[in-house]
Amino acid sequence: MKRVFSGVQPTGNIHIGNYLGALRQFVELQNDNECIYCIVDMHSITVPQQPQELRQHILDVAALYLAIGVDPKKATVFVQSDVPGHAELSWVLTCSAYTGELSRMTQFKDKSKGRESAPAGLFTYPVLMAADILLYDTHVVPVGNDQKQHIELCRDLAIRINNKYGETFVVPEGRFLKEGARIMALDEPTRKMSKSAENPLSRISLLDDESKIKKAIMKSTTDSEGEVRFDIENKPGISNLMNIYSSFSSLSIEDIQKKYQGCGYGDFKKDLVQVTAEALRPIREQYEEIRHSQELIDVLKEGAEKANDISEKTMLRVKERFGLGFGK
Ligand code: TYM
Repeated sequence: MKRVFSGVQPTGNIHIGNYLGALRQFVELQNDNECIYCIVDMHSITVPQQPQELRQHILDVAALYLAIGVDPKKATVFVQSDVPGHAELSWVLTCSAYTGELSRMTQFKDKSKGRESAPAGLFTYPVLMAADILLYDTHVVPVGNDQKQHIELCRDLAIRINNKYGETFVVPEGRFLKEGARIMALDEPTRKMSKSAENPLSRISLLDDESKIKKAIMKSTTDSEGEVRFDIENKPGISNLMNIYSSFSSLSIEDIQKKYQGCGYGDFKKDLVQVTAEALRPIREQYEEIRHSQELIDVLKEGAEKANDISEKTMLRVKERFGLGFGK
C-alpha cells in the first residue's frame, strides 16, 4: 500500500482550482492507499493572518475535506501545528537546503516581488513543505501544477540526504491530473485562479451558490471569435472554461468541442453554470452539516494522534542518522 500525503493552506476562499487540481484526488486515492491529509496552518503564517480568522479557516478546510468525501475512517486528517515533527524536521532539512535553490523558487519570487524585505518564512516555505511530505515516508503527493517546483525540491533534498547520511527518506512523486492541474482566473485567464486575488469574480469558491457561480462564469473573459474551440495559446479563456467543464462532467475536451460546434459562448456558459452548480451543491450541503459538529473536532484530534505516532518514528530515525541527541 502506498502512503499519500497532501495539504491545503487555510487561507479562505478555497476554490474550484484547489478542488479540480488537488482535492478531488484526495477522495479518489483514499480507497487503495494510506492517505494523510493536512491543514497546513504553519505555511499560512508566512503571510500576515488575523489569528481569529485563521482558526476559523482551519476548521473551514477540515470541514471541506470531509464535505468533498474524504472519509476519516479511511484517511487521516489533521492540523499541521498539532504535530511538532513538522517544524523539527523542517529545521533539519533547512540545514541541507541551499540558499541558491530556494531563491529560484517562483512562488518566493512572486510573493516577495517589490518588497524591500520579505519574511524568512516565505523563503523557507518549500523546506517546511518538504518536511510535511518526508515526515510520513510519503510515496505520492497529489497536487496542482503550481507545486511542481516544490515537489522537485523535496525530492532533491531527500536524495541529497539519503546519499550523505544513508537511506533516510522515501523519495516521493507528485501526482498531477491532466485536466484541472492548472485552473486559470476567470477574469484574467493567463493567471492561475488564486485564493488571494482581489476580484471575487476571478474565482468560483467551493461554497458558492448558483447565483454566484452564474455571475462569475457569465462575466468570465473569453475572446471575440465566438467559437468553442480548445486552444490554450490563442483562446486561454474559453480553453480554461472547457477544462472546468470537462473536469466536472464525464465529457472530454473533444466531446465538448463537438457538442458546442456552431453554438455561441452564451449557450456554452449557461450549461457550464449548471454543470458546476450541480457538482458543488452536494459539497455545500455536506459542509453545512459538518462545519460546526463535534465530529469535526474529534476527527482532527484523532488525526493528530495518528500523525504524531508516525512522525515520532521518523524523527527518531532522522536524529539517529544525523547524530542528534545522545541516543538515550
Ligand atoms: P494551496 O493551499 O495554495 O493549494 C492547495 C492545492 O490546490 C492546488 N491549486 C490549484 N490547482 C489547480 N489550479 C489552480 N489554480 C490551483 N491553485 C491551487 C495546489 O497545487 C495545491 O495542491 N504549498 C501548498 C500546500 C502544502 C502542501 C504540503 C501540499 C504545504 N505542504 C505538502 C502538498 C504536500 C499550497 O500552497 O497549496
